[in-house]
Formats: sequence, structure tokens, C-alpha cells
Amino acid sequence: MPNRSQEFARIEQATEEAIRLAAVHIRQGDLVAFPTETVYGLGADATQGQAVAAIYEAKGRPSFNPLIAHVDSLAMAEALVDFDPLSRRLAETFWPGPLTLVLPMRPDCPVSSLATAGLDTLAVRMPAHRVALELIRAAGVPIVAPSANTSGHVSPTSASHVYGDLSRRVPLILDGGRTEVGLESTIVQVRDDIPYLLRPGGLAREEIEAAIGIAVVRSEGDPATAPVAPGMLASHYAPHARVRLDARRVEPGEALLAFGGASIHGIVEATRIFNLSPSGNLREAAANLFDMLRRADGDDITGIAVAPIPTHGLGEAIRDRLTRAAAPR
Ligand code: TXA
Ligand code: MG
Repeated sequence: MPNRSQEFARIEQATEEAIRLAAVHIRQGDLVAFPTETVYGLGADATQGQAVAAIYEAKGRPSFNPLIAHVDSLAMAEALVDFDPLSRRLAETFWPGPLTLVLPMRPDCPVSSLATAGLDTLAVRMPAHRVALELIRAAGVPIVAPSANTSGHVSPTSASHVYGDLSRRVPLILDGGRTEVGLESTIVQVRDDIPYLLRPGGLAREEIEAAIGIAVVRSEGDPATAPVAPGMLASHYAPHARVRLDARRVEPGEALLAFGGASIHGIVEATRIFNLSPSGNLREAAANLFDMLRRADGDDITGIAVAPIPTHGLGEAIRDRLTRAAAPR
């Protein structure tokens, strides 16, 4: 893997040729920053766990917030998620446009579990921007993309904003000028035929209400009664079993999440063993994290022991996630 930290991003005018090249990057598992009508996104192939891990690495996100999958059509979205009638109406009315819908994932959804932070739902949107749509079409895969800023900074509305934040972390920035909306998409999740507003954004609530004739409920508070956007609450996948970090020994009845080749005592006692990355690669470990947490979890174990994981790079986010999973509930 080339060491990109020494190199600077290329900014390319978003010509057809540049978009084709960007699509090749995406398919190869590289990151590409691209314009949408809301803000610039930092994109990766949603189906490649390690490419998704590279997004969190580049943004310096302290934890794994779930990402929005960008599609070029309703048909592409339908291969990922199941639409209830109201959500379908919203998509038909407002796509392409600054509306993100959170929907239950199909069982055969190819999106990496890291992109959804292990949730059963996926946020999807079809952006109203020629460059974004052509890029997704040319890549032939859904593209997950958070706003292309480093964690804690404001969202970028021009290629030079992206460059300022990520010039050493993304090889290619497609320049499509200033973004039109300048505000992230509005996020809506329908539950029991009620539309909940998870994040106010580029599409006004009133516009949605006028189109469907139903009140949109601002979602805050208890995730048991109304859906919420993660980031505010720990609504990522939470294992049933107790999680124990920095384990050097497996106790009888525990499942083990190993990392690298570190020797763990009592390994024969483990009920199940998964290695997040046999070679000790943090990007690979991030890509495997939620999937392996789910597979390790179960009623038949007393807990999940996790081998020591480094504290640098993506290790910080992996450990953050596991620490939350370990917290008493
Ligand atoms: O306009 C936008 O939405 C931009 C452009 C690039 O498309 N993207 C963007 O992504 O703002 P990001 O990652 O900065 O924000 C995504 C938001 C987060 O608040 C996240 O918690 C929420 O979407 N989200 C993602 N998946 C979710 C899910 N399954 N359930 C609830 N909220 C979800
Ligand atoms: Mg953001």
C-alpha cells in the first residue's frame, strides 16, 4: 500500500474523463472527494470494508458513525434497502435531492457493516448533482460518503475547503465548483407510518409536510420510542454479551476477538474465535469489527474477550467502540 501521507491530493475539474478515472479509484478501494448539491463528500465503495475504514482514518473520526450510501437511482437503492410506501413516496418526490432516508437493510445488502456501524438500517440518498450521479453510475456501486472535512470542522462547500482539510489524506478531489445547497441533507426515518426528522438539513420540513400531508416529527430523546441519528446516542450495534478489553487470557465460556498474532492464554477455552486482522492491520480490523462482534455474540457465551488493540490510528476508534460496548447498560 503506497504511503500517501507524503503526497498531496490532486484537484481535477470534473470532466467526463476525470469522473471515469475517479470511478476506477473507487473500484480499487481508494477514496475520492466529490461534489454533491449539499456539501462535498469523501467517497468510498460502500461494499468494500477496508475502503470504508479508510474514510474514518482520513476524517480522524473518534468513533464509527454510520454513513450515508449514495445511489444513482431508486433502483440502486432498492437493491440495498426495503421501502415502506411512505418512504417510497418521499424518494419519488424528492430524489434526486437533499433528502436522506433511513431504511431497513435487505438481507442481501452488500454494504459493509462498518458503513452502518453494525445497525440493521442504512441511510440512503440520491444526490442532485451531475458529477455525483455520474461517478456512482461509472463506479457501478453505491458510494458511502460523509462530508469531506476532518472531524470537528465545518462541512466543505468547495474543492479548496476539502483540500484544506484533507489534502494529505485523499488522492483525488473532483472539482465541481461551489455546492448549491451548502447544508447537509435532511434525514428522515419512517416508523409505523410516522415520518421522523433525524437531522434538519437542505430540504425544509415544511416542504416535506406539504408534499405528503403528514406532520414530520422532530426526533429527540428516547430511541426506544422514536428513531435517532447516531452520533448523539450510542445507537450502534450493542452486543448482548459483556465485552472485556485488553484480554490476555480467555476465560471458560467466552468468545474471543483476536488481533494480530499476540498470544492469548487459555485460547482452547474460547467458545468462538474471530481474528479482526491476523496481520495486525487496523484498517482490516475496522472493516471486520461489527460483523465479528455480531458473530461472536450470543446467549451461549459468558462474555467477549478482546485481545489488546493498539491505540494509534484507527485503533482509537475501534477501542472507543469496544469501550462503549463494554460499558454497563
Ligand atoms: O448532505 C449530506 O448528507 C452529506 C453529503 C456528502 O451527502 N453527507 C453527510 O454525511 O452529511 P455525514 O456522515 O456527515 O452525516 C451522516 C449522518 C450522521 O448524523 C449519521 O449519524 C446519520 O447520518 N446516519 C447514518 N446512517 C444512519 C442510520 N442507519 N440511522 C440513523 N442515522 C444515520
Ligand atoms: Mg458531517
